[in-house]
Amino acid sequence: MALQRDEHPDAKQLNQCFINQLVLWELRAMRITVFGAAGNVGSRVVAEALSRGHEVTAVVRDPGRFHELHAEANARAGDAGNVEDVAELSAGQDVVISATRPASGSESELVTTTKALMDGLDRTGVRLLVVGGAASLTVPGTGGTILLDDPKFLPASSRIIAKASFDQFEVCRAEVRVDWAYLCPPAHMAPGERTGNYRLGTNELLLDAEGNSTISTEDLAVALLDEAERPKHHRTRFTVAY
Ligand SMILES: NC(=O)c1ccc[n+]([C@@H]2O[C@H](COP(=O)([O-])OP(=O)(O)OC[C@H]3O[C@@H](n4cnc5c(N)ncnc54)[C@H](OP(=O)(O)O)[C@@H]3O)[C@@H](O)[C@H]2O)c1
Repeated sequence: MALQRDEHPDAKQLNQCFINQLVLWELRAMRITVFGAAGNVGSRVVAEALSRGHEVTAVVRDPGRFHELHAEANARAGDAGNVEDVAELSAGQDVVISATRPASGSESELVTTTKALMDGLDRTGVRLLVVGGAASLTVPGTGGTILLDDPKFLPASSRIIAKASFDQFEVCRAEVRVDWAYLCPPAHMAPGERTGNYRLGTNELLLDAEGNSTISTEDLAVALLDEAERPKHHRTRFTVAY
């Protein structure tokens, strides 16, 4: 006679498999478009999404960069600053993730790109997750000073891109047509380990016990995919850090 599931010597393991399967059934694979897919953040977002079984359209501006993309992603050329491209590459998708950063000297493009994303997504009705900047977050214990104005967390060399990301958030805040969410990284983010751990915040910079505000790019991607799969934030920003 066959053993019942709970009587099997490896019952605990089998139960865990059963639970994992239920979770997979509950979360059907999503169709996700990633703009800036060859970048630091974008490439990790693509990898995280693929590892969860999602179907990923990875977008770069230059087809010459296709070879840099994950082999399992659907490589497409497109510009997040072009409304037609955004509409075409988002049609039929469940969510669009934007992780673009303009070249140094063209930081203000972040605003025009974000406006184009909104106009394109208004046509297709697809949700947008923006990987933005930390600039607009308030710094704890300062009475409301935002990171953009706090040299303790913002080196002078990053001020131009930080101001551009602040303006980018203002574009999002004014947007009422598209279902968007804006993820503010912590003050410091760098490639590293995927731990799967992070804390969520809203308007204030998250600091750890030592006063650091940090996360690995891999764990930011985890948080972003968690938001894609189980949306908690609509037309608002959120932040993550250890
Ligand atoms: N602490 C913080 O606040 C913090 C820290 C790190 C990153 N970030 C933010 O995270 C985002 C991503 O940064 P990252 O480090 O991943 O930058 P990255 O490595 O420079 O990658 C950005 C990618 O965006 C692409 N891109 C630029 N404009 C585009 C457009 N109009 N359409 C399509 N693709 C475009 C670029 O590709 P090509 O130019 O080759 O086409 C590039 O591959 C940025 O918004 C950045 O400000 C914030």
